[in-house]
Amino acid sequence: MFEVLPQLSPDPILGLSASFREDTNPAKIDLGVGVYKDEQGKTPIMSSVAKAQNILLERETTKTYITPQGHQGFIDGMLKLLLGENSKVMMADRVAAVMAPGGCGSLRILSELLARCGDNLKCWVSDPTWANHIPLIGSAGLEIKTYPYFDKEAAGINFDAMMETLKQTGKGDIVLLHGCCHNPTGADLTNAQWDEILVLAQERGFLPFIDVAYLGFGDGLEEDAYGIRLLAENLPEVIIAASCSKNFGLYRERTGLAAIVTNDSATRKIAQGQIQSVARAIYSMPPSWGGALVDIILADTALKNEWMTEVNEMRNRMSSLRTMLVDKLTENGADKDFSFLNTQKGMFSYLCITPEQVREIRAKHAVYFVDSSRINVAGINQNNVDTLAKALISVL
Ligand SMILES: Cc1ncc(COP(=O)(O)O)c(C=O)c1O
Repeated sequence: MFEVLPQLSPDPILGLSASFREDTNPAKIDLGVGVYKDEQGKTPIMSSVAKAQNILLERETTKTYITPQGHQGFIDGMLKLLLGENSKVMMADRVAAVMAPGGCGSLRILSELLARCGDNLKCWVSDPTWANHIPLIGSAGLEIKTYPYFDKEAAGINFDAMMETLKQTGKGDIVLLHGCCHNPTGADLTNAQWDEILVLAQERGFLPFIDVAYLGFGDGLEEDAYGIRLLAENLPEVIIAASCSKNFGLYRERTGLAAIVTNDSATRKIAQGQIQSVARAIYSMPPSWGGALVDIILADTALKNEWMTEVNEMRNRMSSLRTMLVDKLTENGADKDFSFLNTQKGMFSYLCITPEQVREIRAKHAVYFVDSSRINVAGINQNNVDTLAKALISVL
């Protein structure tokens, strides 16, 4: 049966991780796969999560199925984080939502839901965007179109070009936006730019599809929700895919939220039934453990405060690593001005060097990151930053 299928080349990021593991150079540096790492290069279980696990071990008395929408406490807690404590759309009963297996699961079921709403719908994604957006959204049957986003030469967002392209959209078009901490570039929209996007969405009638996988890693948990809240509170419809992989460190527990802000309460009921039927046709119901942990954390003031402190520490650490790298590059006499790294947000940055330079730094200095020049900032630490800066300068 399966011999008819073509042999696929390995996923570029997973392939990179495999090459890193095989590399025997003791000074090797891994800036590839997108997981948070501490100063020791470890991805530990967050302390708030470890405490919630102890509570859950005591509390969980059965492994029977959970409800199709998942834990309601998780959904309510996550919606408050994303939409705000006093969200008007929540009070108006306009938000349908389910727990889903990670941000990927959320992106996929929302795309499947959209595909049920019409034929040949187009989803506009930023150029570049997270590579997995294409199969997750495209395989559901939506046509992928791109809008200009990052200008490598200028090392920043080309907002005029983005807006010019989005003026071509209309009702029935979907526009994927990164809620914060754009993956792969780290270049985020300013609040003023979100304001302009809102006006354009009102004029053109496109549906914003917001992917938020790094809430709290940019400027703060509240600050990073600016665009989501603005669009959700001022447009008739918005959809949101949120991941708890990074900011709760729940990667392998596959924990995410798919939310649909609808026109009115009656449509909310339709959307709720439809998203659950989409999930039923793929995986029935979401995994329980991760969502139950988030529910425990967000419902307990002390645990929530502890979690927020941990998120703040992770964010501050990544921001200080950016500064440290830029300083080391300057100190070592880099010709190129890398100060743009300090303005980028979250876990990723584009170094804005060529794929040839990326491959050279990998081959000669065992520094591993993807050809696009995206680095995982959290992979930098006090011990490797000097080596990294010198290696980078040597390939410029
Ligand atoms: C932009 C973006 N969206 C969504 C996800 C999905 O994350 P997960 O499925 O691991 O929750 C990721 C993970 O890297 C991401 O970078």
